[in-house]
Amino acid sequence: MNKLFPVIFLVLIATTARSQTSRFTNIIPYPASVVTGEGQFTVNSKTILIYDSEETKRIAGLYIEFLRQAKGFRLSAEKRTGGNPSLNSSNTIILNSQTERSEGYEMRIRPENILIKGNGAGTFYALQSLIQLSEFTGDQAIRIPAGTVKDQPRFGYRGMHLDVALHFFPVTFLKKFIDLMAQYKLNTFHWHLTEDQGWRLEIKKYPKLTREGAWRAQTLLGSAQNNPMGYDSIPHGGFYTREQVKELIRYAADRYVTIIPEIEMPGHCISALVAYPELACGDHPGPFKTIESWGIYEDVFCAGKESTFTFLENVLTEVMELFPSRYIHIGGDEVPKTRWKTCKYCQQRIKDQHLKDEHELQSYFIQRIEKFVNSRGRTIIGWDEILEGGLAPNAIVMSWRGEKGGIAAAQQHHQVIMAPNDYIYFDHYQAKPEQEPLGFPGLNDLNKVYQYNPASDALTAEQKKYVLGAEACVWTEYMATPAKVEYMILPRMLAFAEGCWTPVAQKQYEPFLEDRLPLHLWAIDKKNDTHFFVPMAIGAADNRVFQGKSFTVTLKPTVKDARIFYTLDDTDPRETDYLYEKPLILKVPDGEKRILKTIVITASGRRSAISRTTYISTRPSPLIPQRHLSE
Ligand code: ACM
Ligand code: ZN
Repeated sequence: MNKLFPVIFLVLIATTARSQTSRFTNIIPYPASVVTGEGQFTVNSKTILIYDSEETKRIAGLYIEFLRQAKGFRLSAEKRTGGNPSLNSSNTIILNSQTERSEGYEMRIRPENILIKGNGAGTFYALQSLIQLSEFTGDQAIRIPAGTVKDQPRFGYRGMHLDVALHFFPVTFLKKFIDLMAQYKLNTFHWHLTEDQGWRLEIKKYPKLTREGAWRAQTLLGSAQNNPMGYDSIPHGGFYTREQVKELIRYAADRYVTIIPEIEMPGHCISALVAYPELACGDHPGPFKTIESWGIYEDVFCAGKESTFTFLENVLTEVMELFPSRYIHIGGDEVPKTRWKTCKYCQQRIKDQHLKDEHELQSYFIQRIEKFVNSRGRTIIGWDEILEGGLAPNAIVMSWRGEKGGIAAAQQHHQVIMAPNDYIYFDHYQAKPEQEPLGFPGLNDLNKVYQYNPASDALTAEQKKYVLGAEACVWTEYMATPAKVEYMILPRMLAFAEGCWTPVAQKQYEPFLEDRLPLHLWAIDKKNDTHFFVPMAIGAADNRVFQGKSFTVTLKPTVKDARIFYTLDDTDPRETDYLYEKPLILKVPDGEKRILKTIVITASGRRSAISRTTYISTRPSPLIPQRHLSE
């Protein structure tokens, strides 16, 4: 008995510690370090927020606004400076500015008070964590479990790209997009502003760019890759004024999001050639038409004419006046060399500069632009094609055609942002295409996005230091509406955010999918103002065959308060079918099979795709891996 006691005691401690830890699991991205404490802090209408600077006052306002909207009470805020007011003020949430600016923070929650130490972004992120901890505590009172969170990001560059050129989106939506990013501690918005299909940025010196290049007569219907269906005959377009841009930059900065503009060159620029055809190759080129379909087009900026560089330098000068970002993205991807090969100006340039071929001409082009951008104190980012023909000396490479380009650049000691299309392109499908809205071919499901590690194992520890971080890309050929963008980014953006922020040792898919994500999707579903993809039921095995005589199928919804319905007759389940309430025991008589189909339907009525699993009773076939069998 005596010997057993300490064992039992230890088991009890371990169990308590685990259950306390799990009370913090609702934070996404999961923090770097969490130590649980005793008891809980209760937020009520008498709680006072204490700030010590204009910045912490503004950040405190976020929490006050959250509580006003979510719980209907208004906390008051007070300024206190000088000395550390933290230890004895009860029923307070104290924001203590640190001297060092960083994205990290420390949040100590005790029954008496909450003390947050951070500066700028760090304090802002602490508040995002606090809001998440407050969001899921049920009824009116907010009880936050005691403990200490010490947090900082794994990568400094945590980006979301949004292409507003293939389809145009209003500023109100861009603000919502930035809000979502900031909630999940993403800090860089890559604004893809120009394309063959539309020029979206007002440039004072070249008004025809938006007067003419911002519009197309119609848009392709269906998939350009698989099943084009003609055109919609509906004009499409729009652009952002300088005032709107300035306002969005301010809005983003208030949320610690930097906006990086992208001006595409030397390809993907036909909307500019519509307005200024003389910038294309040869004598008297054009006229051009803003592109109405999706793909790669041969008309590009002429690399031989000086007027091209004058134009681009003038455009970039205005861009750098507007955008304070350290980095300017200059595109560089998918540049056909067809026109350059037959253009007397481009060929003359190749001769004058002693270049080997058109690849080196592309490199000349990018290096010349880089020199200009560098002379204004900024750094260029380019898609990984800028490696071809020789990398510009200070350029940052954005690796999109898989990780190859990023790995090659890091090996050359260039900084890298990983954006591999086969992992974190959110225009690709997140489930079977048959059940999904039209997307770009390829599957990047939630698990794949979650598993993505920006610091490739192909790199040495020294080379990994060149990986600044990662960026998820949202190309919008098949996203004509804000609702579709929301659907394509949620919940994959949450998985991506965790990959950018959380230390590898803390990153685990099961607790993300099973414990935290259902709460976050529940909160979004409850507000009912944002679209999202509903992942299939946890435990539902889609497109799989199991063999045996009796199976216990345990399912869990991927959104809290959602219900799971199922059928056993191979029809698609809906609300009028069986409601899943407890584990299903499926008995399969010899020679028969059972087909289980499931659907998740959230409280607001959003529906997942349908899973289909076959259970057969015949003896195991050598073709079916044993690990898929359960009995
Ligand atoms: C790209 O997806 N063309 C960068
Ligand atoms: Zn040319």
